Parts: sequence; C-alpha cells; structure tokens
Amino acid sequence: MSRSSSLKATLGIFYIIVAVTIIITQYNIHFSSMEVTPVRTDHRDGRFYVYLDHTLNFGARQDVPTHTSWDAPIIWEGMFDPDLHDQTHFEANSSVALAVFAVGRYLEFYLHNFLTSAEKHFMLGLSVTYYVFTDYPEKVPKMELGPWRSMKVLQVEKHPRWQDVSMMRMKTLAEFIESDIRHHCNYVFCFDVDQVFTGRFGSEALGDSVALLHAHFYTLPQHRFTYERRPTSQAFLETGDFYYHAALFGGSWENMKNLTEACLAGIMEDKKNKVEAVWHDESHLNKYYWLHKPTRVLSPEYCWDRRLYDINIWVTRLVWVKKHYRQTRV
Ligand code: GAL
Repeated sequence: MSRSSSLKATLGIFYIIVAVTIIITQYNIHFSSMEVTPVRTDHRDGRFYVYLDHTLNFGARQDVPTHTSWDAPIIWEGMFDPDLHDQTHFEANSSVALAVFAVGRYLEFYLHNFLTSAEKHFMLGLSVTYYVFTDYPEKVPKMELGPWRSMKVLQVEKHPRWQDVSMMRMKTLAEFIESDIRHHCNYVFCFDVDQVFTGRFGSEALGDSVALLHAHFYTLPQHRFTYERRPTSQAFLETGDFYYHAALFGGSWENMKNLTEACLAGIMEDKKNKVEAVWHDESHLNKYYWLHKPTRVLSPEYCWDRRLYDINIWVTRLVWVKKHYRQTRV
C-alpha cells in the first residue's frame, strides 16, 4: 500500500471513530437528562387522559408511530433506556405475575421452551411468579428458577372445545387475580404458550393497561381488521383504533381484573344469545380496548411472526412458534 492510501485509510478510521463517539454521547446525554416520572392516567369529565411518559424518547424512531391519538406510548426498540426502566421498577418493588395456560397437548408441545426462554428474557431483575394453569399439573416440567422467581401450578378443567379453553381463560384469570395474584403481584401478564422469548422483554413493557399490536395487522387499513362485525355479538366493533393480539395482554392487577371480568361478561352474554365472536376472546379484548384505551401499547417486536419481513423490526423479543393445530386443538 502506498503512503498516501495508508494515510487515507487511517483518516477514514479516525472519522468513523469520531462519528460513533458523537452518536453514543448524544444517546447518553438524552437518556441521562431525562427525568424519571411515572406515567399518570386519570378519568375526568367522562374523558380519559394519559400523560406522556418522560422516560421515553418519542423522537428516537421517525420510521414508526410512537404514540397513539390518546397519547399512550407505543414501545419500540431505541425509545427507552433499559437500565433506567429496570432501576425505576426495582426501586418501586414491582412484581409481575406471568399467567400461561398449558391445557391438553399444548403442555407437551410448548410449555418447556416457553418457560426456559422466559427465564432468559422476561423481566430479569424483577420479582416474577409464573402461574401455570393446566389440566395435568404432574406433567409440568420441574425447573430451577432464577433469583426472585417462583412458580405456581394450578389445575383447571379442560373444556372440550379449544375455543372455550381460550375464552374461559378470562374466567380463570378473573378468579385468580381476586383470590391470589392481587396479594402478591402489582402487574399481571397473560401469554399464549405457543411462543418463545428471543430477546429482552423487560420493565419498559409494564403499565396500567398494556395491549399488543398484532404483527399481521399493524400496517393494514382498518377495514382489513378482523373485528367481530355482527351486531348480535357483544364484541361487535364497527370501527376501532388498532387490531390488538390476544397472544399477550397485561396491566396492573386492578385493570386486569376489570378487563377479564368485562370480557367474560361479553362471552357469557354471547353464549346466552347463541353467538360466538369470530376470534373468540381476542374479539372481546378488542372491544374492551376500544372502550377503555390501553395506557401502553407494545409494538409487534413483542410478539413477532418470523414468516413476515419488516425493516422497522430491529429486534424480536417474543416470536410465534410453529402451530401444531392438528395435534393440539383436539
Ligand atoms: C391470526 C392469528 C390468530 C388471530 C387472527 C386474527 O394470524 O393466528 O390467533 O389473532 O390472526 O385475524
């Protein structure tokens, strides 16, 4: 290499180092200058208010919407400082219940991988209790859990139809929040079992009422959303904000109690009227979030379908795994 080209190469490396240093410094200045103020929500004059969370950097992502029309944040990679959130929740002594239903053959197909991946990625550093609801408690894998983590295995009946297994989660959850969870945990999340954690799913996802954007619908226009469109169902929706996915939903135990009770009431009323919403509990959940706006919305990073491609998905935190419908929905 000649002297002049080696000088150019050295200069090039120098410029790259300077550029990277400037980017890192800007990032740190932004986050270290942020105040840690919790999100506040309230209901006044019959209206619903959410105050923007100052611990989030809404401008960090120009490529995607970072808040809803009612000012709830939509959480994407790059918008939050993980350490700041973890520290805030650690100091607040936040504790989280992770509820998962592993009924029938769902247990043998999915539960082990779901739980081992949760141990690696879900709310690390916080107190977590797994509530595993199953019809076969003795088949739940014995696992060594990390510090501040525990598991409760609870027996539930297996409904003959998978649609009822899914819908009746609302009943079981409402009952357990009242009898058990509320005495031990501030937050509750309910997850489908046929998924695995692949990246951080941390305290930035905690909020009063947390909903998830469905990976298949968040870029589609409203008329493509698979809401229940028949007015005879309690889940009927003509218009909405987003299409939310029931693969996970969560919030404070108080809000989760309201949500599960409201969805259950809709499901039972539909049963009385001999109508079943097109996407079962998910349809009722969408109706609920239309009437009671979530205070935090999770981007599809938090439940991604790897068959899709989207340049805006920088990380995946939880992914769908292959659905064995023929063997599991029996
Ligand atoms: C599918 C998903 C279902 C349901 C449906 C709604 O992609 O597997 O669980 O959410 O979308 O249209």
